[in-house]
Amino acid sequence: MSLVVVSNRLPFAAVRGESGEWQIEPGSGGLVTALRPVLGNRGGRWIGWPGATAEELPDAAELFQHSQKRFGYELVSVPLSAAEREGFYSGFSNEIVWPLFHDLVPLANFDPSYWAAYETVNERFADTILRVASPDDLVWVHDYHLMRVATALSARGASLRTAFFLHIPFPPLDVFLKLPWRFQVLHSLLDFDLVGFQTVRDRRNFIQCVRLLLPEVRVSGRGAVWTLRSGERELRVGSFPISVDAAGFERRARRPEVAARAAEIRAREPGGKLVLGIDRLDYTKGLPQKLEAFRTLLRRHPEMQGRVTLIQIVVPSREDIPRYQEHKTLVDRLVGEINGEFTRGGWAPIRYVHRSLEGERLSAYYRAADIALVTPLKDGMNLVSKEYCASHVDGDGVLILSEFAGAAAELQGGALLVNPYDVEGVAEALRMALTMPEGARRASFRRLRRTVRERDIYRWLDTFLRAAADHELSDYPLVADYLPAAAASGGAAR
Ligand code: G6P
Repeated sequence: MSLVVVSNRLPFAAVRGESGEWQIEPGSGGLVTALRPVLGNRGGRWIGWPGATAEELPDAAELFQHSQKRFGYELVSVPLSAAEREGFYSGFSNEIVWPLFHDLVPLANFDPSYWAAYETVNERFADTILRVASPDDLVWVHDYHLMRVATALSARGASLRTAFFLHIPFPPLDVFLKLPWRFQVLHSLLDFDLVGFQTVRDRRNFIQCVRLLLPEVRVSGRGAVWTLRSGERELRVGSFPISVDAAGFERRARRPEVAARAAEIRAREPGGKLVLGIDRLDYTKGLPQKLEAFRTLLRRHPEMQGRVTLIQIVVPSREDIPRYQEHKTLVDRLVGEINGEFTRGGWAPIRYVHRSLEGERLSAYYRAADIALVTPLKDGMNLVSKEYCASHVDGDGVLILSEFAGAAAELQGGALLVNPYDVEGVAEALRMALTMPEGARRASFRRLRRTVRERDIYRWLDTFLRAAADHELSDYPLVADYLPAAAASGGAAR
């Protein structure tokens, strides 16, 4: 069976160099980071948008034509005009689905024109799939940009095997109900043969929406994978927490060059503890709340001033969308305020880096950091938390993690879990992390590293593909939900 991966972005983007020529560079974001090693290992095809509009780069196919030789799999580009990108990507995907599925209903802009653009572009993807896929391939569609692809394929009479994986959360019923196209979206998802979510919580939300909105669908199941039947059609729905190439991150982190870079990073902050945050500059990542929590720590515990530095790396993202521009202004202002309030004697509390980090430079930050502070307001999984566990190879680290990140379910045994909206609670978790004895730090971190090593991206792939290939339902490992009440007696901060 050959894989045809389909996602909004290709894992490598066309970027114009300084002298005007086009070249290919690795893309960023959870989806491509997770899937790049998968196709690199197995081969296959990856269909997606090349990173530049059809007006900017009329012949993207030419740029990607040697991909098979270069990367071990074929990259197939889907050309989109600037207007199509606007309505489909900035509009429906990122001004409607993105905020809504992250429970941020007031941030959604339900502009009715976006839906038509979404349908048209999903159809364009379906046409490209039909051009390159063979009947025994598995067409594996990824993420919220492309929920309508299976419907477009059936409308074209295709009988391909299809699977879908949602990298972001699926919202609870009362939030999903706000979507003006709620029936169309639910029906579209039911047109796939397998639908995968990150966590039990997302799968449960989805099934609840199906039960209420589409009572004719029969639902049965227990454990990780469920069966839904509607007339003659049958599909599976399950939870499959995505992960990272843990061994790959670990190997890279152990390189001497990375150790040297990590030592340089540490040398810049002599005597102090390093807290690391790495986030796309996105309002779901909870950056203002995180900064407020750090300010609260420094105000409440003046003895920490001069002894801890927050290195906050923000990766520029979706810069054409006004909401993101406003958000950047807010984050920049807060960083300025906090540094203005506390900087003294050569120490500034926040080192703010506004750029994408890859490869050894990224690994060096993970290796250097005493604490990773990962506090999204809501997140499908959050791979930064898992990358930190895999890369912080000396084993003396602390992970502070939002209970609303999908990763909380798997990492609850070793992380300090926090409610990112509770600024005082996060400040207190930081204080705990900064003062925890080494033995306790190492013991918790060992558990985290074991989990991430065991549940890596290859195991995720294997589990998902077994579900797609119709194996016994009992084979599937179930990761139990994280519930704050259960953790209140221990583990969680405060
Ligand atoms: C999240 C989404 C991905 C997306 C990534 C980066 O991880 O789940 O589908 O690719 O963010 O966002 P962007 O809009 O730049 O592709």
